[in-house]
Amino acid sequence: MQEFFNIVVLISGKGTNLQALIDASHRSNYKISAVISDKAKAIGLNRAKISGIDTYVIEQGSFDSKLEFEESLATRISEINPQLIVLAGFMKVLGPQFVKLFRGKIINIHPSLLPEYPGLNTHQRVLKDKKKIHGVSVHLVTEDLDSGPIIAQNSVHVLPNDTVESLAKRVLEREHIIYPKVVESLAIGKIQLSDYDI
Ligand code: GRF
Repeated sequence: MQEFFNIVVLISGKGTNLQALIDASHRSNYKISAVISDKAKAIGLNRAKISGIDTYVIEQGSFDSKLEFEESLATRISEINPQLIVLAGFMKVLGPQFVKLFRGKIINIHPSLLPEYPGLNTHQRVLKDKKKIHGVSVHLVTEDLDSGPIIAQNSVHVLPNDTVESLAKRVLEREHIIYPKVVESLAIGKIQLSDYDI
């Protein structure tokens, strides 16, 4: 029997990166064991269900505190016992306790060339600053927002007539290429997260 590299994908919304990961998984060495959303209405949940992947909803509003929410999330993930936790449009900033528990096992995709433009509204800020180059980063998640070691990046040119929407669309297309590639590289051991100093 073939040994798969098991991953759990965390989402909050549309899940187009999740879809890219699902599509590529059919020709890859990783298996999406489960998708967890912190939003019951996330469209990405349907993408997972259609593909026969187990889904779970864990909403912060169901708990008295963010800590309890994260404890529940951590318990569920520990039960699934994945080799990698993949944040794909997961809009919660994970707290230090959670990050410590899964240290070196969580990756995120961020729509900017980190360390430039951490946080939200990256496309707006890039256009406002009249940058010529923008892009996407895949990085290890640490306690500090969008600041963990960078695993891979891909850049796009900012065009003279670009709007937030056109730029976001081009960056997202790159996200859909780079994220499955990084996960596959981790699955086959081409990249090892233990090599990163965190
Ligand atoms: C992507 O731009 C991702 O980089 C960011 O949130 C967006 C999520 O898109 N973290 P989707 O839910 O994968 O479609």
